[in-house]
Formats: sequence, C-alpha cells, structure tokens
Amino acid sequence: MIEVQTRLDVKEILQEGVERTDNALARLLPPDTQTPSSIHKAMRHSTFAGGKRLRPVLAMEAARTIRGERTLPEGMEDLGAAIEMLHTYSLIHDDLPALDNDDLRRGKPTCHVVYGEAIAILAGDALQTLAYQTLARLRCAAPAAVEIIRLIADATGTVEGMIGGQVLDLEGEHSRPTAESVDAIHRAKTGALIRVSIVSGGVYAGATAEDAERLTEFGRKAGLAFQIVDDILDVTQDSAHLGKTAGKDLTSDKATWPAVFGIEESRRHADRLIAEAFALLAPYGAAADGLKAVAQYLVDRTN
Ligand code: IPE
Ligand code: IPE
Ligand code: MG
Ligand code: MG
Ligand code: MG
Repeated sequence: MIEVQTRLDVKEILQEGVERTDNALARLLPPDTQTPSSIHKAMRHSTFAGGKRLRPVLAMEAARTIRGERTLPEGMEDLGAAIEMLHTYSLIHDDLPALDNDDLRRGKPTCHVVYGEAIAILAGDALQTLAYQTLARLRCAAPAAVEIIRLIADATGTVEGMIGGQVLDLEGEHSRPTAESVDAIHRAKTGALIRVSIVSGGVYAGATAEDAERLTEFGRKAGLAFQIVDDILDVTQDSAHLGKTAGKDLTSDKATWPAVFGIEESRRHADRLIAEAFALLAPYGAAADGLKAVAQYLVDRTN
C-alpha cells in the first residue's frame, strides 16, 4: 500500500495523461491543411493551446481503479480525446462575446479573436460533432460504448448538464446568488462533465453497475469541488498564471461560490468534498490511489 502510494506521483500521472491525450487529439483532428482549412486551424488553435487535460486524466485513473492495474485498456486515449474535444468546444463558446466575452484562453488569444466569431462558433460545433464521431468508433465492447455515448450526451445537455448549466450561469448574472442557485449552476455547467469523465472511464474498463454508482457519487463531489476552486482562483490568481482573464467573475457579476460563502469557507467546502469523495473509494484500496491523487490535485492546483 505505502509502496504504491509513494510510487504514484501526481505530476507524472498528469504528464503522461497530457502526452497520451495530445497524441490522440493530433491523430483525430483533421490537419490544418484539410479543406476548409480555416475551421481546422481554429479547432487546432483552441485544442492545442495548453489545456491541463484533467478530464482525460480522470477517465484514465478511473479505468485503472476499476482494472486494479496501471495498464490502460486498449484505445482508452480516444475516449479521453473525445471528452477533451467536448470540453474545448465548451470553452470556445464560453468565451464568445455573447457569453463570457473573453479574449484570453489557455494563454493564447481566444478562438473568436483570431478566427472571427462565425468560425469560432462553427469550430465549437465541429469539435462536438468530432467528439461523437470518435465515441462511435471506441474500441471497447459495443454495449459499453453505447452506454458511454448515452452518459456523455446526457451530461453535456440541457437537463442538469453542461449546456443547461451555462444557461443558468448566464441568467444568474446580476442577480444575488444563493447557496441553492450556485450549487445548481456549478453541478451542471462543470460538475457534470467531470463526473461523466470519471464514470465513462470506469465503464470503458468494465465497471459493474455498483462501480458506476460509486464513481458517479465520487465524480459529483470532485466535479463540484473543481468548480469551487475555479471560482477561488479567479479571485486569487493573476491572468498570466491562469492563462485566462483573472477577476472576470466579479466584473461580470457572476454567481460564484466565493460570492455566496467567501473565500475561506469556499476552500473548506472544496476540501470537505474531496475528503468525502475519497471515502467512497475505500472498496478499491490502493487501486484508487491514482484517482485520489488527481482528485486532490483538482483542489490543490493554482491554475
Ligand atoms: C476551465 O477548465 C473551465 C471550467 C470548466 C471551469 P480547466 O481548468 O480544466 O481548463 P483547461 O482545460 O486546463 O484549459
Ligand atoms: C465555464 O465556466 C464552464 C464551461 C465552459 C462549460 P467558467 O466561465 O467559470 O470558466 P472560465 O473561468 O471562463 O474558464
Ligand atoms: Mg462561463
Ligand atoms: Mg468563462
Ligand atoms: Mg471560471
């Protein structure tokens, strides 16, 4: 147990996840030169701007937890890449003038700043389409692939999913947030995709219904903690370090965790959620150490 814990370094896990995911994305996205090249350049601009690839890494660690070994199931990278495409599409659209109106993302000018609004909208759409093209070709057992597609489509949709959360986030601007409203926004706009990254990684690796239920609860807590920390970092870090505009939530009058609870209490909430999430993984013993290390990073990170 101790040996496994010391062997797993979160930096190494993240580094390996970035490499695997970037290789898969480079293979799956059409080349810049493919006609119509403007959109392929735009898709690649936002995809290869230096994201942390946390969702693919969580999917991989969930798979390792279920398998009880570090060797990943064949073709697992493509699941992570598809999730990262969906995440990148959500960021391109989140930054549009009609939404958060941001000009910096992942340390680079946003997609619409470089390629114009029309191509940025279409690049987001295209990444979503490419994600499902990729999921339809997953190399796991067909019933698992269908289940993964269903879970991901649900988690990114309008009912308690990512798009629904984005709507609540926009409609929550300029009105006083409550504990209930900010909880609903955060669980949907960000928590749902984090949760489904973990569950789908487990399903890819052959999770039973009981495993999937456990991973779902774990993912709910980790996903909410992730967005609480995103809100804290918006207040406590600068733009150069974040690679996106700091202090933006305050100027846009967003419903954030610190706006309701303050920074200190928000930090305590995030830490408590991760501790509760860890307890859910007890049945896996040391096999869950990698997943725990990455979940801990979600709240310890500074960007
Ligand atoms: C940022 O997500 C957007 C939110 C959902 C809050 P990440 O912090 O995972 O961003 P990247 O992928 O590393 O750029
Ligand atoms: C983004 O939330 C959520 C999605 C992209 C679905 P934020 O608006 O808080 O993300 P950042 O802070 O711009 O990365
Ligand atoms: Mg937003
Ligand atoms: Mg934003
Ligand atoms: Mg934010």
